[in-house]
Amino acid sequence: MDFKLEIAKILEKQTNMPMEDVIASIETPPELDLGDFAFPCFRLAKELKKAPPAIAQEICEAITPPSFVDKIEAKGPYLNFYLKRDAYAKGVLPQVYTLGEDYGKRDIGVGQYVVIDYSSPNIAKPFHIGHLRSTVIGHALYNIFNKLGYRSYSINYLGDWGTQFGKIITAFERWSNKDEVVAGGIDALVKLYVRFHDEAEENPKLEDEARAWFLKMEQGDEYALNLWRLVKDISLLDYKKIYDLFEIDFDSYNGESFYNDKMTPVVEEIAAKGLLIEDKGAMLVDLEEHKMPPCLILRKDGGTLYATRDITSALYRKNEYNFAKAIYVTANEQNLHFAQFFKVVELMGYKWAKDELVHVPFGFMNLPEGKMSTRKGNVLLMEDLIDQTIEKVRETIEEKNPTLEDKEAVAQQVGLGAIIFNDLFNSRVKDVEFSWERMLSFEGETGPYAQYTHARCCSVLEKASDVDYSDADVSLLTSDEEFELIKTIATFGDKIEEAANKYEPFVISRFIIAVAQGYNKFYHNNPILKTDEDLKKARLYLTHCVRDVLASALGILGIKAPSKM
Ligand code: ARG
Repeated sequence: MDFKLEIAKILEKQTNMPMEDVIASIETPPELDLGDFAFPCFRLAKELKKAPPAIAQEICEAITPPSFVDKIEAKGPYLNFYLKRDAYAKGVLPQVYTLGEDYGKRDIGVGQYVVIDYSSPNIAKPFHIGHLRSTVIGHALYNIFNKLGYRSYSINYLGDWGTQFGKIITAFERWSNKDEVVAGGIDALVKLYVRFHDEAEENPKLEDEARAWFLKMEQGDEYALNLWRLVKDISLLDYKKIYDLFEIDFDSYNGESFYNDKMTPVVEEIAAKGLLIEDKGAMLVDLEEHKMPPCLILRKDGGTLYATRDITSALYRKNEYNFAKAIYVTANEQNLHFAQFFKVVELMGYKWAKDELVHVPFGFMNLPEGKMSTRKGNVLLMEDLIDQTIEKVRETIEEKNPTLEDKEAVAQQVGLGAIIFNDLFNSRVKDVEFSWERMLSFEGETGPYAQYTHARCCSVLEKASDVDYSDADVSLLTSDEEFELIKTIATFGDKIEEAANKYEPFVISRFIIAVAQGYNKFYHNNPILKTDEDLKKARLYLTHCVRDVLASALGILGIKAPSKM
């Protein structure tokens, strides 16, 4: 049973407020003695021309508490509802128990696509921490929307087109060969790029050569395109090492190059709609009226730009998937780019652009400078960061639990979990500090702490493996800790919705910590195995529910939940 909804229905009838508004205004008081749900009467004051406390008093007298409500009190401008704890436990837990990993799911998005563009590294260039953040945030959003019934569709919009590939081909032809780049991977490609720039300072002819190669690519020259494909394959192979670790794959890898042959009609459309103006040989859309610098569409030499491809891909995606939302996850450095190209799509007459194109920016992550062994700015840096994190977990396991089975798998799950959780714990726009000490602690608000709590549930259940608690009487769960824990669990669905509405995975991370803290408090104050048989069963039942909810919430963030650690 959805208790909040039931209370909202009563209030709707009594106040004639629209249901949506009633639901939105019902609060959850921070302390138990203020009730379990509170309804503020400020909004009604204007309409009824009465003071909020008087309104609260009136409503209180007018409604009869439903069977699951213990009492209703008017306190100042608030109407406080106190639930019957036994009825509440019975209304919530069997649902969690039966639905298991499906608990919290909703169907508000059924039949609708949400297209999420994330990770999207620039091939032949380093996969940096920004791409890792984009990957982790985007993947969480992918799961969040799926839980709400949407069909999430992930696109890795590779930066795989542009003049820089002319430079790499130039460098490759002059100073390298296939065997060398295949063996050296992305590292070798980055070196070629760097060398190109060094030598081009002395020898500007190289720039002309590079332009010529890129022109060949654009014209479909097979020799040039084959080299470009090689560069792409080598890069992807390196990126996939990271994706495989996190068990992330994409529904599409259509990057910028995919739009190479699709831009002409779009540029023509922009022109036909009277938006394209010439400026010193280049073509742009003026955005002064919208307080932004102009959006460049064509270079002086007729070449297209990042924005040209993004405008084209947005129209293509709308056409292809008819999305409800198209979400782009990138560092906040690109705020202006997205604001500009969204505006151009809107000015082209596509009204959906305003609500349906969504940029989801995030802040910096500061890495432990100097503490990593490898070449700076390289894809290897990310791998190194991940490896070192896992290595630290390995050491902790050796120290604390040397006889653990599957040590290697657990070390990996905990290390990756720590990285993801650290990334997703605060609002994404905040900068993140990367501190091994903090993120690997088993006590703070961390991934390992959440995973440890899950493992604790598993271990409690294992110790009682001979007890059948499936028919437990959960109405016995009425202690403060039990009641609060059940209340926290019951918010799961709301939290998933909130996370989706705000595009904020941290709503889920906070939920996980609240459940974990609630369980540990319960665990320390309420004996589970050494109590009378009925209560023991009820507490095992609760433990089972907490285990499932933790596993499923961690799963949303892309974090594994080992049963032992
Ligand atoms: N390749 C870009 C980068 O590494 C990110 C692309 C984001 N997606 C997009 N549709 N612009 O900065």
